[in-house]
Amino acid sequence: MTRKEALDSIKVNVENENLVKHMLATEAIMRALARCLGEDEEEWGLTGLLHDIDMELTEGNMVTHSTLGADLVRELGASEAMAHAILCHNEAHGIPLETKLDKALFCADPLTGLIIAATLVRPDKKLAGLEAKSVKKRFKEKSFAAGVDRQQIAQCSEIGIELGEFIELGLKAMQRIAEELGL
Ligand SMILES: [Fe+2]
Repeated sequence: MTRKEALDSIKVNVENENLVKHMLATEAIMRALARCLGEDEEEWGLTGLLHDIDMELTEGNMVTHSTLGADLVRELGASEAMAHAILCHNEAHGIPLETKLDKALFCADPLTGLIIAATLVRPDKKLAGLEAKSVKKRFKEKSFAAGVDRQQIAQCSEIGIELGEFIELGLKAMQRIAEELGL
């Protein structure tokens, strides 16, 4: 599967622009993680890009979310490893995270939300001037973007990355695609 094929399928299945941006942001972080860990950047990036492809089709129903997604990406030609990571990123299924790819997607997914929220409270609402230290501060403020699961982000330790380093890597990755994210 090429990135273009993945994006074409997203166009067909996802209308909400913010959801598409969330998937692009997750892709950017997954690519950066893969580079950092010496993993397959294309495989990790496409997993991030496609991970919520079924969110609208399943209408956010956590019972079916990501089961359909895993089937969809298999049809697109994704590897079984990619489909598994997508399947188990939805905790509702209770499927244990096994591989590094599973664990990477699981912690990268909510980091995008924290970084976007930290951007949107800035006067200029731009990613460019956002510093990692302020994202780290926001991480500790429990009432800030309360829906963002901090424990899930902190599971970056499971892939051998320290939280501060993970936030820095995620922020830089999203800053590189700021234009696409409209931030
Ligand atoms: Fe997601």
